[in-house]
Amino acid sequence: MAIVQGWYPPTRENWETTALTFQILYPVISVMQLFISWYGMGKTSVRSRLNIPGRVAWIFMEMPGFMTVLYMMKTLPQIHGIDDLPWQNRVLAGLFVIHYVYRALIFPFIQPSMSPIHILVALMATGFQVLNGISIGAWLAAYGPVTDDAWSRQSSVAQFCAGIAIFYTGLAANFFHDEELREIRRTEKRRQERLVGEQHGVAGDRKHVSVEKHYQIPQTGLFKHVLYAHYLCEWFEWLGFWVAAGWGCGPARTFLVNEVFAMLPRAVKGKQWYMEKFGEDKIRKKWAVLPGIV
Ligand SMILES: NC(=O)c1ccc[n+]([C@@H]2O[C@H](COP(=O)([O-])OP(=O)(O)OC[C@H]3O[C@@H](n4cnc5c(N)ncnc54)[C@H](OP(=O)(O)O)[C@@H]3O)[C@@H](O)[C@H]2O)c1
Repeated sequence: MAIVQGWYPPTRENWETTALTFQILYPVISVMQLFISWYGMGKTSVRSRLNIPGRVAWIFMEMPGFMTVLYMMKTLPQIHGIDDLPWQNRVLAGLFVIHYVYRALIFPFIQPSMSPIHILVALMATGFQVLNGISIGAWLAAYGPVTDDAWSRQSSVAQFCAGIAIFYTGLAANFFHDEELREIRRTEKRRQERLVGEQHGVAGDRKHVSVEKHYQIPQTGLFKHVLYAHYLCEWFEWLGFWVAAGWGCGPARTFLVNEVFAMLPRAVKGKQWYMEKFGEDKIRKKWAVLPGIV
């Protein structure tokens, strides 16, 4: 049963329109970040009645992507009389879901604290997820290669496996660097609990402890040289997805390009933020996100 007849799930023609819209619209919107100083998320979030608590926003803005891919995989093969999708389609859909189960359902709960997110930023992210889910999901479910023959022309098994290896390396490295940021706040929390305990004689009193907006310069792994190492690793992950899906996979290329467009300005501005907060001397020698480039 279609949720929106002809669009969700989409006919081939409407899928092409949606994928093209995503390909053009989001880079244009993302470039605007360079000219607007406001960004209602993370380090630069400010008080507003239109803010959503960070954890809630992350769950709701990141879930539609993998839910859409699952919905496409469920509905489109039936509509197009495809009995059995090749294993490559199912593996790629599985990788997408694995990443977003972490990002939407695990990440918000294991972060020691998350800044609020303005509703406009959350809506932009939700739009990104829905369009990307349709673009990639419909390609995997019906409009990309759906036979073994088509896959042999799309991406060899060796290339597919190399892509998966890159994907998992990126996923693990992204988690590792996310974890380093979490550890900064966990360490601060333990430090505050110890201090409160010493002052009040109650070990680990949590009521007086807050690590909201506590920032330090991350130092482990690639953070030694790159301030937004977690972003870089995520790009590497989706590069692996594109390699596996084959260089001719437009939706995988669009996803990577649109992620870079969305996150690169944040990293460049983030470096500026680090310099203002911690001093130029400590930050100048570090790259924002792409070693040797920016
Ligand atoms: N932002 C995007 O457009 C985007 C798109 C796709 C994927 N992702 C992925 O989603 C994850 C989070 O992205 P993000 O943009 O929220 O990254 P971020 O701004 O670096 O923040 C990540 C988390 O760590 C905390 N944090 C950041 N810098 C810290 C520091 N120096 N010391 C201590 N804690 C720090 C943040 O707390 P606060 O919330 O309090 O600042 C937040 O909870 C990353 O793995 C990224 O690859 C992001």
